[in-house]
Amino acid sequence: MRTLIVYESMYGRTHEIAEAIARGAAQVGDATTVPVAQANPQDVQAYDLVIVGGPTHVHGMSRESTRRGAVEAAEKEDSALTAEPDAAGPGIRDWLDDLARAEGAAAAFDTRIDKPAIVTGRASKGIAKKLRHLGFTLAADPESFLVDTDTNLIDGEEARAEQWGKAVAAGIR
Ligand SMILES: Cc1cc2nc3c(=O)[nH]c(=O)nc-3n(C[C@H](O)[C@H](O)[C@H](O)COP(=O)(O)O)c2cc1C
Repeated sequence: MRTLIVYESMYGRTHEIAEAIARGAAQVGDATTVPVAQANPQDVQAYDLVIVGGPTHVHGMSRESTRRGAVEAAEKEDSALTAEPDAAGPGIRDWLDDLARAEGAAAAFDTRIDKPAIVTGRASKGIAKKLRHLGFTLAADPESFLVDTDTNLIDGEEARAEQWGKAVAAGIR
């Protein structure tokens, strides 16, 4: 049982959630975490389960313009945010567009602000839709992990992500 977790992250929160999901999935089998900039679309075939996640930007998956905005915000003198090395891109949207038709199990997650999803939007919904159109079978409903307005993970979200990763991997074992 091999799980690949591909994530995009501007400030590290989705990265932290991806690592937590991997800790959970690793209780069921092997789990590998890769930032989207280093994820080779061909590698997907070698895994039993592919979990894909990114931050919610403007109600959905990031775009080149929103990633640029995120990096510029971190570069401001008074910013408490630090951009991840690959923050400028490519994003999950681009990576999924480069993926050939695939089969097997997949799941989608995102990070987003801790407000009702109708207000914030959810990148995971769009990720799941693209995964399904590529031919994957969805092993779980799209899941969101929450940050506050200062971009800190809400207490308990890493633990919840670990449980989610374990449950999704166990479900397809
Ligand atoms: C340009 C931009 C647009 C954003 N738009 C939304 C949004 O529409 N809904 C939301 O819940 N959060 C939004 N956020 C907050 C991000 O979801 C949050 O920064 C992200 O979850 C942090 O994860 P990361 O550190 O992995 O990038 C936005 C952030 C940026 C930088």
